[in-house]
Amino acid sequence: MHLHKFEKIWLIFGIVALALFLVIVGINAFAHGHMPAGGMDTIDPEKVRETAPFDNPGVTQIDEDTYEVAIIAMAFGYNPAQIKVPVGKEIIFTLTSEDVVHSFTIDDTKVNMMAVPGRITHKSYTFTEPGKYLVLCNEYCGTGHHYMQTEIEVYE
Ligand code: CUA
Repeated sequence: MHLHKFEKIWLIFGIVALALFLVIVGINAFAHGHMPAGGMDTIDPEKVRETAPFDNPGVTQIDEDTYEVAIIAMAFGYNPAQIKVPVGKEIIFTLTSEDVVHSFTIDDTKVNMMAVPGRITHKSYTFTEPGKYLVLCNEYCGTGHHYMQTEIEVYE
């Protein structure tokens, strides 16, 4: 009789622990849905071309010292195909992918961004030297992966 009661207590304890666990996991999933880890924004990958700033990809001047470049990565290239930005100004790259995972990796810089469908990634960078910078995709994305590249022209 005593043993039976003891088992019941443990059973209840187990159920309560499981319920608590599910609540915590649920809260975490909910929180992540609204604010993903790393402060990244989310986007509907089906509607990239209708969603700002990707509805108008390219360079936008934000203020005297700041520019934003909206870039869509896709198999196997980038939109826009041509990027021209000034030297010595803060350039905020805003990136997403409309198909699979790519990267936006600017040669000879610390810019190495992941382009993930459903996510928007940002990276701020200031070029200190004018010139032409090669951009490569570092994530294997399919048969055209090795041809996926573009160029940034940094002007004075
Ligand atoms: Cu895109 Cu590799």
